[in-house]
Amino acid sequence: MNLSRLLSEKRLVICCGSGGVGKTTTSAALALQGAALGRKTLVLTIDPARRLADALGISSLDHRPRRLPDATLRRRGGSASGTLDAMMLDAKATLDDLIHRHAPSPEARDAILANPIYRYGSRALIENPEYLAMEKVNALEAEGSWDLIVVDTPPTRHALDFFSASRRMGEFLEGNRFLAMMTPEGRRGLTGGRILGFGLGAITRLIERVTGTELLQAARDFFTAFEGMFEGFRERAARMESLLRSEATTTVIVTSPEPHALAEARQLYASFAGDRIPFGALVVNRVAIDRLVEGALDGVAAGGTAMDSRERVRLDALIENYYIFRSLAARDSRALAALAGLGIDPARMLIVPALEEEVVRIEGLRKFLRALKPGAAALRPPGARRRSR
Ligand SMILES: Nc1ncnc2c1ncn2[C@@H]1O[C@H](COP(=O)(O)OP(=O)(O)OP(=O)(O)O)[C@@H](O)[C@H]1O
Ligand SMILES: [Mg+2]
Repeated sequence: MNLSRLLSEKRLVICCGSGGVGKTTTSAALALQGAALGRKTLVLTIDPARRLADALGISSLDHRPRRLPDATLRRRGGSASGTLDAMMLDAKATLDDLIHRHAPSPEARDAILANPIYRYGSRALIENPEYLAMEKVNALEAEGSWDLIVVDTPPTRHALDFFSASRRMGEFLEGNRFLAMMTPEGRRGLTGGRILGFGLGAITRLIERVTGTELLQAARDFFTAFEGMFEGFRERAARMESLLRSEATTTVIVTSPEPHALAEARQLYASFAGDRIPFGALVVNRVAIDRLVEGALDGVAAGGTAMDSRERVRLDALIENYYIFRSLAARDSRALAALAGLGIDPARMLIVPALEEEVVRIEGLRKFLRALKPGAAALRPPGARRRSR
């Protein structure tokens, strides 16, 4: 299964990994490739930063899909039918929209929006947007306007939070944990102090401010107003859970060769297997690759005798730089060798060298895509041919 096949066949590609490794860059590049393959593609970022807009070379992004101009997309060929839209998650707008769309009546909607429990709870959901991101992906997928949706997940402390958000919402609604939170005994009983991926802090702060009967009244009002909506939340959480595990979905784990990022990538890979979440590819990004074959520098230093002293100093600096780089490349190469233990199909292990510039605009993404290769091909020195069998 090569990358083009994944991008031609899947409907949902989720890019994940630890902070700063190149998730947004990879998402933008994969979406561009999807459009070049003729698919109507949407790339959604949950990252509040401007990175996706910069990578795509557009001035700004908001929560409405924005189409990239045809001329930008087709400067270098590509299928005529492919399109590329980009958008950013607006967690607050997504939540407001859910309440407006699903509230059983205008009165219930207003009661929910004014309820102190909702106001504190919604703030926590917006600050930890994994659940709302899943809601948005679910709605976009159900809308059916795109052949391919590429999701750039947020730089969470735990990349897995995104994948478990809908399950946690489902459990939360199932067990009436909400009611349990209203009593100190119930709060103590909540495992690990984390519900829906965020701490109990928001609820505790609320409970400290609104006490006794006032709190119970607010909880009662909230439940009455929310009555007809629980079922919808449960159903959507269940749909998201099956969408995550469907044939149409795949994941791309992005990592750098740094130990902390690799550890997170390994953990994600193992959890996907355990959780039946489909795995598409592992992208090891910003790898230092030593392209000089052994012995290539022999004679170079000696050849410097014909140089004047300024040229000689430059040559020595260049050679010293190379030896520093070579130790980085050796470290990265050991990291890549250690990944072999995961047993990933070599065609699904993709490597992108550290490029000399930031990856910005379509041109930068194209460069990134040209540099992205399956492990063996990426590490081969230039000019070396594959041995014929
Ligand atoms: N192969 C590469 N070579 C050089 N620079 C790169 C490469 N890949 C990504 N970058 C640069 O690294 C920076 C981080 O990339 P990116 O924003 O895609 O990471 P991210 O994982 O989305 O980060 P965050 O977790 O903060 O959302 C960007 O400035 C990007 O241009
Ligand atoms: Mg990002």
